[in-house]
Amino acid sequence: MLKVGHVQLDTNLLLAPIAGHCDLPFRLTARACGGVGLAFTDLLCPHGILKQNTQTQWLMATNEDDRPLGMQLYGQDADLMCEAGRWAVERGATTLDINMGCPVDKVTKTFAGSMMLCTPDNTLAVARALVRAVDVPVTAKLRLGYGEGELTAPSLARALVDEGVQCITIHGRTAYQRFKGVCDLDGIRKVVEAVHETGANEIPCIGNGDIKTPFDAKRMIDVTGCDGVMIARAALGAPWIFRDTRQLLETGEIVDELTLRERCGVIKAHYRWMLEMRDTRRAVNRMKQIVHGYAKHLGPCKSLKQGVKEVIFEAPERLLDVVDEFVERVGSAADDVPVSWREREYQLAASAGAGAVA
Ligand SMILES: Cc1cc2nc3c(=O)[nH]c(=O)nc-3n(C[C@H](O)[C@H](O)[C@H](O)COP(=O)(O)O)c2cc1C
Repeated sequence: MLKVGHVQLDTNLLLAPIAGHCDLPFRLTARACGGVGLAFTDLLCPHGILKQNTQTQWLMATNEDDRPLGMQLYGQDADLMCEAGRWAVERGATTLDINMGCPVDKVTKTFAGSMMLCTPDNTLAVARALVRAVDVPVTAKLRLGYGEGELTAPSLARALVDEGVQCITIHGRTAYQRFKGVCDLDGIRKVVEAVHETGANEIPCIGNGDIKTPFDAKRMIDVTGCDGVMIARAALGAPWIFRDTRQLLETGEIVDELTLRERCGVIKAHYRWMLEMRDTRRAVNRMKQIVHGYAKHLGPCKSLKQGVKEVIFEAPERLLDVVDEFVERVGSAADDVPVSWREREYQLAASAGAGAVA
């Protein structure tokens, strides 16, 4: 199974950093469903870490059930990254990831994130310094290149491995594309080959981008030869995607997809963690947004969405009753699988106007 430096992972399936979403309650929810080999925090600002900024502290919040955990830092100042990295390790990071893919102006204007693809000398100096500064594996998450059609990631990935980086994740888009267009599997394959060619055979290369179902994850591995996959957006409404992908990769099929009742149980567990860890008003407001992601995997559920919308933060427990009442209303169909991954694939293909799925 996959190893990142000295850290042995249970699966080769990684929960991505997803700013604004991948907090402790969500990571615990995905882990409880099963299949997550390594989960990441959202990207963390080194200044925020060192100043113990309240928001950064929340983003770094973790506990013993939240392992192994990759904390992701962004920045191009080697000293600052090292100092923040040491703090992150003290606060529970199993691995440290350097963000080299974020295309957002707030990050790139400081020459961090995807701008690091344009400044390889400094990028390698940051990686070298961080590798020496901490005793946990250092990893990097890249895009294929910065500008339109650029493919600089293979050579940068190879050089990062030479500096001691222990795992490369490659998102199959350029920074120019942001999230537009489709993920380029051929580009990912080139990065995978470059990492594998380093001779450091044990350094894994993880593919990322547009994995919307477990079948996409299998396709990504088959086509690119990547050692594992990282999933972001598709996990938001279906944190059980790791569980089901593991089953597909291990057995060739997914035999026991979660029933509607079980999916509602996941929603309730997620919300309970939110209530436990966040202030009530924030937990209720967040859940009102989050439930829309889950709804895509529940079949018809208007009453659930409406019921959740009406919950007020003075009576937060009501949200749990709303979920139970929905399950009750559905009756015996609650023990069926509402939207299977095959059905989800058809839905996605139809909404993309792509016609039938082979
Ligand atoms: C809302 C949002 C926030 C993201 N935040 C981060 C982040 O903090 N760090 C990072 O490396 N990538 C971030 N990403 C990129 C994802 O990790 C991932 O590379 C990208 O979404 C492609 O994977 P997907 O198709 O599975 O979503 C973010 C993506 C989205 C949509």
